[in-house]
Amino acid sequence: QLLDIDPSKLIVEKTTKPGKLHKPEELVFGRAFTDHMLTVEWNKDNGWLAPHIKPYQNLSLDPATCVFHYAFECFEGMKAYKDKAGKIRLFRPDKNMARFNKSAARIALPTFAPTALIDLIAEYVKLESRFIPDQRGYSLYLRPTMIGTQRTLGVGPPGSALLYIIASPVGPYYPTGFKAVSLEATDYAVRAWPGGVGDKKLGANYAPCIVPQREAMSRGFQQNLWLFGEEEYVTEVGTMNFFVAMKNKQTGQKELVTAPLDGTILEGVTRDSVLSLARERLVPEGWKIEERKFTMQEVNEAANEGRLIEAFGAGTAAIVSPVRAISWKGKLVNCGLKDHEESGEITLKMKGWMEARQYGDDEHEWSYVC
Ligand code: COI
Repeated sequence: QLLDIDPSKLIVEKTTKPGKLHKPEELVFGRAFTDHMLTVEWNKDNGWLAPHIKPYQNLSLDPATCVFHYAFECFEGMKAYKDKAGKIRLFRPDKNMARFNKSAARIALPTFAPTALIDLIAEYVKLESRFIPDQRGYSLYLRPTMIGTQRTLGVGPPGSALLYIIASPVGPYYPTGFKAVSLEATDYAVRAWPGGVGDKKLGANYAPCIVPQREAMSRGFQQNLWLFGEEEYVTEVGTMNFFVAMKNKQTGQKELVTAPLDGTILEGVTRDSVLSLARERLVPEGWKIEERKFTMQEVNEAANEGRLIEAFGAGTAAIVSPVRAISWKGKLVNCGLKDHEESGEITLKMKGWMEARQYGDDEHEWSYVC
């Protein structure tokens, strides 16, 4: 009988050299880390061993370790927030755990009991409490990671693995703050394809995205927009899901549209939350919420006909990120903002609604009090 993760076996070794806190306004996304890390080792004979919280430290791995050769790595992105009462809250951690297990299973890494890891994360973030800024827009970004650790160049399922979690205090994702970004539609590379792994959070999905992202930046765009196929379906923006608000050509009804979870789209927790909030709060105002395929041509036509209301990216890191324009086929498709505006109304409302639940102002089952 293989063992599952058991929080009651947690061994805590506290640091003797507590690190300095950074000024929140000086935080750069993912650069500063807390004093400790959480680790749980697994092997195929015993299952999950006792979890540890220990001082943040280097890993020591043999150069032949399978993660370095065949990319046995998956991860999660989630945040811990500090509420007005000083309590620490996770946002929909069950969603991250479910996705983490799906990603791990797809690359032959072990799965675990989701509630056990949530319990451990709660212990971990409480220990790191002093690193969690309490201002709006700030949080502790958590990076659960799992790697195959078997020392072998043989191509096969890893016989051992390491699950670890590190934590990074963060502020607004973009150094420029909450400002509209411009995108370049990428037509020479695809992020994901039917039957592929684009719906899993594998590190291997991210490295190939950097060159198109750099290309877009070299031409003055902050992010690239991922299209798919000859039809040029709009899929994702950079590392985020993408939403567009437009008026229906026939009926004039306002629609909030995002690509469907057809296996090529990352199952974003923010995506799911935006859809849920939109169904709850925008549908009564006459909006239609749609998960369906849509093309760049359709977005362009809506823009040309004055039907494009606004567009935004949605992800854990940035929450929502307003989009000003998309460069596509040599023209600039304007996404509905006036020159002086940095966000559309729906994007701004979504940001507020999401934050209210994340920081616990709007008490809701999505918020997990540690
Ligand atoms: C997110 O938008 O939350 C991401 O996936 C970005 C992360 C890889 C830094």
